[in-house]
Amino acid sequence: MKLISLLWSVSLLAVALSRNIDIEDSELEAAEFVRELDHELNTIVNKDTEAGWAYASNITDANELLKNEASAETGKFIKEVSEKVNKYDWVNFKDQDLKRQMSKLAKQGYAALPEEKYKELLSLMSGMEASFAKVKVCDYKDRTKCDLSLEPEIEAVITTSRDPEELKYYWVEFYNAFKSVREPFERYIELNTEAAKLNNYTSGAEDWLSEYEDDTFEQQLENIFDEIRPLYEQLHGYVRWRLRKFYGNKVVSEKGPIPMHLLGNMWAQTWGEIASIISPFPEKPLIDVSDEMVRQGITPKKMFEMGDDFFTSLNLIKLPQTFWDKSILEKPTDGRDLICHASAWDFYKKDDVRIKQCTRVTQDQLFTVHHELGHIQYFLQYQNQPHVYRTGANPGFHEAVGDVLSLSVSTPRHLQKIGLLKDYKPDEEAKINQLFLKALDKIAFLPFAFTMDKYRWALFRGEVKKDRWNCAFWRLREEYSGIEPPVVRSEDDFDAPAKYHVSADVEYLRYLVSFIIQFQFYKSACIKANQYEAGNPELPLDNCDFYGNAEAGKAFEAMLKMGASKPWPDAMEVFTGERKMTGKAIAEYFAPLTQWLEVENKKNNVFIGWTKSDKCRGSK
Ligand SMILES: *[C@@H]1O[C@H](CO)[C@@H](O)[C@H](O)[C@H]1NC(C)=O
Ligand SMILES: *[C@@H]1O[C@H](CO)[C@@H](O)[C@H](O)[C@H]1NC(C)=O
Ligand SMILES: [Zn+2]
Repeated sequence: MKLISLLWSVSLLAVALSRNIDIEDSELEAAEFVRELDHELNTIVNKDTEAGWAYASNITDANELLKNEASAETGKFIKEVSEKVNKYDWVNFKDQDLKRQMSKLAKQGYAALPEEKYKELLSLMSGMEASFAKVKVCDYKDRTKCDLSLEPEIEAVITTSRDPEELKYYWVEFYNAFKSVREPFERYIELNTEAAKLNNYTSGAEDWLSEYEDDTFEQQLENIFDEIRPLYEQLHGYVRWRLRKFYGNKVVSEKGPIPMHLLGNMWAQTWGEIASIISPFPEKPLIDVSDEMVRQGITPKKMFEMGDDFFTSLNLIKLPQTFWDKSILEKPTDGRDLICHASAWDFYKKDDVRIKQCTRVTQDQLFTVHHELGHIQYFLQYQNQPHVYRTGANPGFHEAVGDVLSLSVSTPRHLQKIGLLKDYKPDEEAKINQLFLKALDKIAFLPFAFTMDKYRWALFRGEVKKDRWNCAFWRLREEYSGIEPPVVRSEDDFDAPAKYHVSADVEYLRYLVSFIIQFQFYKSACIKANQYEAGNPELPLDNCDFYGNAEAGKAFEAMLKMGASKPWPDAMEVFTGERKMTGKAIAEYFAPLTQWLEVENKKNNVFIGWTKSDKCRGSK
């Protein structure tokens, strides 16, 4: 700290003394300033992250206070750094890399707020996150038992129950817990907007979008979305038709939005959990290795070892011992409240990376394990970069890494290889089943993910009147996903924060971007591994397993170790040779399913699209 302030006063003096100071001298000085700063930044962010971890893994008032104090400390520091940076004329620097680092150091985020308001916002946000984590509801069958948490009890019912009344009960109980979030949320929107303006953005929406370094990004996504919409509508129509056959005409209408509690997920974000009741060929296998995992006695730890093995098979970095020593891989049984939502953490120290996950032994969780390990691999790959570059090329890249591996892990080829899938005969019908299962997760998710941020952008931009906030949410969900709540909601409810990322102020566009680009990465890895050839039925994209392929690993490594040191198209190019985000790889992957759905839906006179929902009204 000492050295830096000294250097700083020297440079200030220089600027003050001479207006025509040589820009190159000023750049040299700035470079020195940035270099000296790096260690200090890592140290302070490390402290902050430790406090965040202590809180997230053990929610108590004392830990909340400590966490918010640490964040306030970091905020103050970041603001000071930004002010120092802005005294340089960095916008006109010739050294592009230095300019990039300075531009990142100039960002203040919420710390731009006056200190009191910044603290108020921190405490508002941790309060909302805590209330999300603490939601408890009563058991449907035994209403005196009132300690059911989202993870694992409520999720276990939502994913497996086929009783519409029971599903509706848990849906209503869970969502009703968020009525009280409206008040803090209103203040959160106000303070978010104020901070965005202090950072010279029109609103928080533009602030979030700036991470993608492309003014046309929102429009690009709209375009890709328009391309995908026909496949989504075919899938949606087919699912509604099958659910109608399963639950009957009274529960599911012919043409309306799908009642979301029937889709196997509290937010209807992925629908894979109900695959067994709606799969195209019920008499053919539908891959679910969960039972086999349990039968083989696979533990959560073993699941992480399997993930580690995949990364090392690609010649990527092995998990360090610190990871095993410090991670929380199972839900603690001592009764403490914690944030179970799976997450990966970088502590900005050599090899200190951790995961917190209340892991259960299921196929779906095996994919989540790979997802989280993807974050960890990225942390390890870019850990020698300057602090400001120790992040994803854009937020979507960070989310995509592990999913690319999951696409490979979930193929029949790989599951057979690791002995989890036995007696599986691949034929056309099994293949359609498998693609359908994938689409329930990967395609159904796209409009969901888009609406999470479209909704918040609209609030940030002040486009929705406060007395329409709840119905505006459901209108978006209806418009993009064609789903609706199981009961009539009103402006007495406030339902968006029932999604963790909304309660916890986590931008969501990253997941939409990830679900698009992960198919570009996967396709590219498969081509490198000689496992995919367009038009060759012997080498289809959906059964490509690039496990053990050093060539694919090398491409991955080259991209990952860049961190955020270059704009994302550069990073993408290093891996795939492409510089654009496109929906082409998804379309290629799902092409056989798209064709099948079109024929099948036509044959069965399935209605495509959906009529208006009447499930949200101004007030009850
Ligand atoms: C949780 O945090 C409290 C302090 O608020 C501490 O006393 C307790 O030991 C912690 N529990 C665990 C399991 O770390
Ligand atoms: C916003 O713009 C003003 C005026 O151009 C400038 O003084 C200020 O430093 C900028 N704020 C940030 C955080 O960049
Ligand atoms: Zn993630």
